[in-house]
Amino acid sequence: MMPELIPILSAAELRRLVLDLAQRIEADYRGRNLVLIGVLKGSFVFLSDLIRQLGMPVKVDFVQASSYGNGTESSGHIRLSKGIGLDIRGQDVLVVEDIVDTGLTVRWIIDYLTSLQPRSVTVCALINKPARREVDVPIAYAGYVAGNGFLVGYGLDYAEQYRHLPDVCQLNL
Ligand code: IMP
Repeated sequence: MMPELIPILSAAELRRLVLDLAQRIEADYRGRNLVLIGVLKGSFVFLSDLIRQLGMPVKVDFVQASSYGNGTESSGHIRLSKGIGLDIRGQDVLVVEDIVDTGLTVRWIIDYLTSLQPRSVTVCALINKPARREVDVPIAYAGYVAGNGFLVGYGLDYAEQYRHLPDVCQLNL
């Protein structure tokens, strides 16, 4: 059987969500030194849209930490394969994540970044899946609250496929 893709967020809805997040972030951080830390790979499309909607200068860096293999279930094991290069000591840091699911990945990233002594660390997630949370993580900016289905597109993958789709879709295998 062919995998089924059910549209969840259209490109137009994503544009509105991202603009709304950008306006809230700008209102909170205007005049401060903001560093956006994108979580690779899934956040790269979201981050690139977000910085272009922010009406303020920001620095950008990336981390790569993964708890997923090639499937749809978290292994619970976090591995940092890329740390940041910028010095964030004393800076305001905003972690830009595609999806917060169990929360294990972003919890680990918050702890890693906090060890580098920034002024603050907050989280912006395009999609929040609160039903599957295993650890408590504060998400200051959440775009869309999703249920349990596995989502692909707009940077999100299943086994490295579907990242190019302009919409976010639910993948039914
Ligand atoms: P967590 O550690 O369980 O919160 O998982 C976070 C990471 O798992 C996200 O950064 C995503 O890369 C990936 N992930 C979680 N749910 C999905 C999904 O529905 N589609 C694609 N990736 C997902």
